Amino acid sequence: RGLGTLGENESQLVDSGRNAETEDSQTERANKLPIPPLLDDKNPEEGKAEFDLNVQYGKKEFIEGQETNTLGYNGDYLGPVIRVDKGDDVKINVNNGLDEPTTVHWHGLEVPGEMDGGPHQVVDPATSWQPHFTIDQPAATLWYHPHLLHKTGEQVYKGLAGLFYIEDEQSKELDIPKEHGVNDIPLVIQDKRFSDNGEMPYELNMRDVMNGFLGDTVLVNGAIAPELDVKNEVIRLRLLNGSNARSYDFNFSDRSAFHQIASDGGFLETSIEMNELSLAPAERAEILVDFSDYRVGDEIVLRDGNDEVMKINIVEESTDSSDIPESLVDIVEYDREEVVKTRRFVMSGMGPMVAINDKQMDMDRIDEHLNLNELEEWVISNDSAGMGMMGETPHPFHVHGVQFQVIERNGVEPPLNEQGWKDTVMVESGEEVRILAKFKQKGLFMYHCHILEHEDAGMMGQFLVE
Ligand code: C2O
Ligand code: CU
Ligand code: CU
Repeated sequence: RGLGTLGENESQLVDSGRNAETEDSQTERANKLPIPPLLDDKNPEEGKAEFDLNVQYGKKEFIEGQETNTLGYNGDYLGPVIRVDKGDDVKINVNNGLDEPTTVHWHGLEVPGEMDGGPHQVVDPATSWQPHFTIDQPAATLWYHPHLLHKTGEQVYKGLAGLFYIEDEQSKELDIPKEHGVNDIPLVIQDKRFSDNGEMPYELNMRDVMNGFLGDTVLVNGAIAPELDVKNEVIRLRLLNGSNARSYDFNFSDRSAFHQIASDGGFLETSIEMNELSLAPAERAEILVDFSDYRVGDEIVLRDGNDEVMKINIVEESTDSSDIPESLVDIVEYDREEVVKTRRFVMSGMGPMVAINDKQMDMDRIDEHLNLNELEEWVISNDSAGMGMMGETPHPFHVHGVQFQVIERNGVEPPLNEQGWKDTVMVESGEEVRILAKFKQKGLFMYHCHILEHEDAGMMGQFLVE
């Protein structure tokens, strides 16, 4: 494998990229992949962590010479990586420096309802919110973002999103890349639409209202088509689809294989070799890419379908690459026999009428009552095919406060990379997905479509765990 096996078109793509680099190395250099920094833990005590998160206005030059108004956490755009250990007692000081309310939701974290940061935990302008919780779930790549009723799409779009890593004994012991920004690389992928003056207004056209916002420019960690320099070794990419509505089919320009090692809620049992990875909005995946057969000077393009997302340049010989472990962790499968309650969630409707079980979000209505620690089976279906071609919309279904197991997709076993912990699952038009979940935290939580325009239109419900 390697560049020798490239098809004609693909090798052209690589070559033209190389020429561009030699001709215009300055612009290329300026376009290095930004790496969100690890956020400082203010509490030196072992087993405790405390973080400051400031929600603020920003300005960022996405396009050279044009300043864009943005939102960010502790910076102009996106947020730092919050990294904690399993077992940690975590406190976060969220300070809202905006003129409008916001919330900060910990997507994928299993914490009590009042710490979840959903639409009920509003942080008003010039006030702060101090959630605290104990990390009681395996190593995973999670994320945080606003969740204000009817405003999630706009606030995320303008830049409010960040990664939240949990590490544990297994993630530390596995022979995988662990150096943040060097061989363990966060990639927050989003699509935007810039206006002529470089602004990034959140303006929905008719198509956006129907299917969710679709941009024409892809950003990685806030940069357009950036470049990442690495050694020729195994590289770990932690991908977050942080887009409002777009799904991606990630692959490499030379069609090289890679291994998925983690899904939304943590490591898979075994690494899975693949050539293409689909990620719906809010889904995460960790993949290992083995560049050891490449030589210094080689360049690989990460693509969505045939479209370039970013470039990876091999710039240095590696001296000690990690491996691609085959077996990763044990995941104890839930026993379907132990299911206490089965619930159905039918997603339907179009545009502003999208609904779950024919209902739209009502802050004062609790849709489902659950018992703590009971195993439930949820049957999630997408009825939009019934609306005719126009209405056919995929709906990525997300549940707060839990990591679940997907047991069936359209009556058969789900693909291997959906057989680990998940908190968001894509349900295409006409599909039915069955999941098993055990809710270990009390309180009020949300379930919703993670196409943010659908969520904001009311495609969300509430469940109370007691
Ligand atoms: Cu990513 Cu309800 O959220
Ligand atoms: Cu969530
Ligand atoms: Cu939807």
